[in-house]
Amino acid sequence: MNYDDIQKLFLEKGFFFPSSEIYSDAPAGFWDYGPLGVNFKNKFIESWRKNIVRRDSMIEIDGSQILSKNVFVASGHLDNFSDPIVRCNECNSVYRADRMITDISGDMISEKLSDAEYDEKIKSLDIKCLKCKNSLSSVSRFNMMYDVGIGPKGDASYLRPETCQNIFVDFLRLSKTMRIKLPIGIAQFGKSFRNEISPRQSLLRLREFYQAEIEVFYNPNNVDVLDEFSTVSDCILNIHNSDDEIITATCNELVNRGVLPNKFIAYYLGLVQQFYTRNGLSLEKTRFRILPDDDRAFYATHSFDFEVLTSVGWLELVACNNRTDYDLSRHQKISGKDLQILDNEEKVLPHVFEISMGVDRSLYSIVEESYHKDGDRLLLSLKPGLSPFDVAIFPLSNKNDLPSFSKQIFNDLKLDFQSFYDSSGSIGRRYRRQDEIGTPMCITIDFDSIENNDVTIRYRDSMDQIRVPVSEIKNKLLEYYNN
Ligand code: GLY
Repeated sequence: MNYDDIQKLFLEKGFFFPSSEIYSDAPAGFWDYGPLGVNFKNKFIESWRKNIVRRDSMIEIDGSQILSKNVFVASGHLDNFSDPIVRCNECNSVYRADRMITDISGDMISEKLSDAEYDEKIKSLDIKCLKCKNSLSSVSRFNMMYDVGIGPKGDASYLRPETCQNIFVDFLRLSKTMRIKLPIGIAQFGKSFRNEISPRQSLLRLREFYQAEIEVFYNPNNVDVLDEFSTVSDCILNIHNSDDEIITATCNELVNRGVLPNKFIAYYLGLVQQFYTRNGLSLEKTRFRILPDDDRAFYATHSFDFEVLTSVGWLELVACNNRTDYDLSRHQKISGKDLQILDNEEKVLPHVFEISMGVDRSLYSIVEESYHKDGDRLLLSLKPGLSPFDVAIFPLSNKNDLPSFSKQIFNDLKLDFQSFYDSSGSIGRRYRRQDEIGTPMCITIDFDSIENNDVTIRYRDSMDQIRVPVSEIKNKLLEYYNN
């Protein structure tokens, strides 16, 4: 299925839709999560908590989305978090210079060129305004943070452009209150905001978006002592190196061959791969791309982008960055607070390895890989535990005692399982609707059900049907989800 099929599914079934959509001034790049999208996102995040955060005894915070100006002076975002733009001298249309040159020349243009280098390329390619064909201004910088005025005087603050700054700023308090020992992962799920010049493709480039970020604080003098490495050592990764080669090997081999710098980093890449494989992305369509120097964010010394191949090309889902002590040393300097901690008698300013997950894009990619045609039916084969609804309950008819018997079953399930009740339309159509939104099990209640106190369970993928006593329904659901 391609991008348009996925959009149709999202809009028609209430997964996601444009924000403020009944108004003509609705700004691009803002999307609302509908009921199915919310369930799907919550389950994805629960899987992240279970398979990464809790698995590694990490701690989680939930910080505010507006942070003080000094946070971003320290983080470097006020100086560095900007895109190169050009304006049309006539109609004032604005374009992102690097993307415009890439689109027109067909060559991948780095985001890291100087303004003069972009000007030179625009001149040599004789690029004009795409709308009115008039000349363009010289390149200037546009900072992508949203500034917000606080209180009546409008004191300068910003919506966070990445969730992790809360983690760095809170590190001092967390180190005291949680008695943390290195290495320690601190996680956060929440919204970030970037004033993108050209948001596009619904969930793929948003101005307000979800991140699930983990910052692993470690002692740089002690990176290879990690007992947990054995749990990923045989995990296979595809590494796309800076020579454009793909190296497919286990985490262990990649470290031994020097493709990955150490076991510490290989461990976290392995965790990411295992997490996405468990949630439905195949190894064949994923890779870690080692970013060259001129492609890395300003705070990173090593970056590995976990990418997935979709119908719109390779998409970055997770940025894995070695941020070293960049953030803590900057916050230490600007705040004047000592952010060092004791690690086995040694006073250290921890370094940070980051696993920064784009949630909206991850959801899109999982749907694209799971949505397919099976004969004449459309099927969303989400992995167990990710489907918006765990189970749908269908009374075969609205006559006699069938509705009240069915409602009782629904009420018994709905607190433990995301349950959906549907009593209208043909049973075949009801099954098809649930197949298309990924509900793995449907329960049908017929007139014999009342007599025998049993129901029919029909499975989404195999379409197998089994008859079970009402008292067995929960066990059957748990059996499915624990498999
Ligand atoms: N915190 C890294 C990122 O937002 O890409």
